[in-house]
Amino acid sequence: MCGIVGVVGNSNATDILMQGLEKLEYRGYDSAGIYVVNGERSNLIKSVGRIADLRAKIGIDIAGSAGIGHTRWATHGQVTEDNAHPHTSETGRFVLVHNGVIENYLQIKEEYLAGHTLKGQTDTEIAVHLIGQFVEDGLTVLEAFKKALHIIEGSYAFALIDSENADTIFVAKNKSPLLIGLGDGYNMVCSDAMAMIRETSQFMEIHDKELVVLTKDSVQISDYDGNLVERQAYTAELDLSDIGKGTYPFYMLKEIDEQPTVMRKLISTYADADGNLTVDPAIVKSVQEAGRIYILAAGTSYNAGFASKAMIEKLTDTPVELGVASEWGYNMPLLSEKPMFILLSQSGETADSRQVLVKANEMGIPSLTVTNVPGSTLSREATYTMLLHAGPEIAVASTKAYTAQVAALAFLSKAVGEANGKKEAVEFDLVHELSLVAQSIEATLSEKDLIEEKVQGLLADARNAFYIGRGNDYYVAMEASLKLKEISYIQCEGFAAGELKHGTISLIEDGVPVLALISNNEVLAAHTRGNVQEVIARGANVLTIVDETMAREDDDIKVSTVHPYLSSITMVVPTQLVAYYATLQRGLDVDKPRNLAKSVTVE
Ligand code: M6R
Repeated sequence: MCGIVGVVGNSNATDILMQGLEKLEYRGYDSAGIYVVNGERSNLIKSVGRIADLRAKIGIDIAGSAGIGHTRWATHGQVTEDNAHPHTSETGRFVLVHNGVIENYLQIKEEYLAGHTLKGQTDTEIAVHLIGQFVEDGLTVLEAFKKALHIIEGSYAFALIDSENADTIFVAKNKSPLLIGLGDGYNMVCSDAMAMIRETSQFMEIHDKELVVLTKDSVQISDYDGNLVERQAYTAELDLSDIGKGTYPFYMLKEIDEQPTVMRKLISTYADADGNLTVDPAIVKSVQEAGRIYILAAGTSYNAGFASKAMIEKLTDTPVELGVASEWGYNMPLLSEKPMFILLSQSGETADSRQVLVKANEMGIPSLTVTNVPGSTLSREATYTMLLHAGPEIAVASTKAYTAQVAALAFLSKAVGEANGKKEAVEFDLVHELSLVAQSIEATLSEKDLIEEKVQGLLADARNAFYIGRGNDYYVAMEASLKLKEISYIQCEGFAAGELKHGTISLIEDGVPVLALISNNEVLAAHTRGNVQEVIARGANVLTIVDETMAREDDDIKVSTVHPYLSSITMVVPTQLVAYYATLQRGLDVDKPRNLAKSVTVE
């Protein structure tokens, strides 16, 4: 979703902004722009399309020592240059970039901006006009910004420059992520550390409803009433080499390939050399005390929650309920006694999940965020955090975060089960089983050519498709279908195999692709085989992905056997490759699917 970068006090401002925007591309966007100031001169350049399009418009003479940049993911107003950020005030003196949604922008327009001429349709433009108007009315810039912040409702991360005094950037945030980056003799602001990691590893958090006055050598943080806030800098644990694509054509393929390494990294993080688990005892105790675990998440993370549900219940003896974060933020159901919330989120920034966490905190419910991003909003605001250690995930389609989430929850479940003295948990040799998982994934990755070939005949021209499975395979089918539809644009449903005949089978006709998942449970396998016959009888074009111990000679893709608790991890990998190759064969951009953002920071 939208991304912000800003810099003050560095003569390479244009370069820093452009490199930062390129690093933010992975979040998803449809237009971009920068504003750069050099003494008396300034330049505002915007473009729809890719950062490369913006770069093509930037002349060699656009140097500057301060500036702000933005990637826009349209919410209010179409994808046009006028709607792209940065936006300017009525006189052009103030320049603003914004992430989030200003909910009362129409009211503000009506109440404060009579006679103003707006160039586009965005909520952001209203905000910068409002600030400009307050300065016209006689307030200082800081007073005008504060006054506007008291009026504006909704989610926002703002970076504002006064073109008449461009050695300061005014920054504020509420609900949308924003960080300060500390350079040597200059300072920066950015939506995530990835954008500035080339320049610095030193960052400072900004909390909701805080305002920052940023100059090249000072960072002054206060609340909206002017009370100063002390904040320590932290070192971001990001390695620049982690965020490169290397020789891979797409990040998604790189991230799929990294999964065995991620499994081994999780083993070394959550178990010692003797195989004893090292999960934080405070987290274990909190889960032990819970009467019911509620997993709240969105998209792929939600599917990973489902894929882990049975394992958590069996190892901990605690019931698990799943919730779609975007629903629970505002429609919280009746909770059982002693609830514990687990927020699953790769980015740790998903606004829907955060809204649930805000509610949970208000209700005094203990919470655990399981995330890939240390220091992310969900990590900071939950009672506890468990990290995924998967390395940056850049492709919009989430892959290694899903498998890492299931594995991390396996460590948590075993640790809780052991603490409860549960025999099954004590006997479950997770370290050994996860090593087998890593090997099984490697075996699947060595079958890429076969998968590519199978997909060619099946999906290259398909308009719709179905994934079916039972038990955990059903949950994998949900994730597999999300992956396929989000990047290949093939309409796809993940279905409980037995449910198909209760209505949806009417959609099966000649040539409809049905991908069946069959892992290691004999009874379920036999039933799913029956369902496969039913769709074949109606003309479906079937591809089977089967655990090798259950496999028949004519099955298409065989997956080497792992412990049933962990089969969602190994069964999902071929489906990630199916989505990848189908997308490639259809000539689409695997890493940047249309309309989607990596980090969904608006509700
Ligand atoms: O960062 P999160 O895990 O909270 O993100 C949740 C979803 O937006 C995300 O999983 C989305 O569904 C992915 N693009 C799917 O590949």
